[in-house]
Amino acid sequence: MRIPFIAGNWKMFKTGREIVTFAEEFKALYQDTDVKTAICAPYVYLGLLKNLFSGTDIKVGAQNAFYEEEGAFTGEVSVKMLEDLGVDYCIIGHSERRQYFGETDESINKKLKRLFRGTVTPILCVGENLRQREKEEQYLVVRDQLMGALSGISPEDAASLIIAYEPVWAIGTGKTATPEQAEDMCEFIRNAVEALYGEAVADQVVIQYGGSVKPANASEIMNMSNIDGALVGGASLNAKDFMDIIDF
Ligand code: 13P
Repeated sequence: MRIPFIAGNWKMFKTGREIVTFAEEFKALYQDTDVKTAICAPYVYLGLLKNLFSGTDIKVGAQNAFYEEEGAFTGEVSVKMLEDLGVDYCIIGHSERRQYFGETDESINKKLKRLFRGTVTPILCVGENLRQREKEEQYLVVRDQLMGALSGISPEDAASLIIAYEPVWAIGTGKTATPEQAEDMCEFIRNAVEALYGEAVADQVVIQYGGSVKPANASEIMNMSNIDGALVGGASLNAKDFMDIIDF
């Protein structure tokens, strides 16, 4: 049984005071639910969020991590540092990191391997851009991203992976993939995982959809059989909207 998992990706939004306000509002709204939830925040606020959410089921995630253990890597943050803070999840390979910060399938693969050696669960992002979709290359693109990211990853590790399908053309645009388009690709991803690791692993892997998920469209997306969750950008910045999505 896959447990639904809805995570917020705050990207580069909010400062300390706004985070405290959000946490107060969100904890007041948050009720016992069968849905797992996490907020993925900028590094500098991960410790603050861990404190604010301590004693609740609300988990905390990072948006990136570097694969080296330690060393002269100015500006980078290691997985060990995330573990030290008790961070639960880490987004890897978000399209914005691929697009603006030169993230490649190779670096993503190294980051996944490092994360799997520790206690932080990776959320691997894949997804095609508009040009690729228009040329009907989306399956090829996503398959290549998966193969590159998962190269040399064991079935045991893969089983605990979270994969987020985020079509770039639907991110921050208000243009959501239709539930059918999202389901279609999430099914494709599950089949690709099955081809690599077998049915038992494919059955366990949690697959999220991300791209303009809002309270108004969350339930039809979440009702799709291969979609187990959502990675929510803009709508996770508002406590009520994020809670409404969790309550889909
Ligand atoms: P939006 O929900 O703002 O479209 O962002 C999606 C996303 O990139 C989550 O990682």
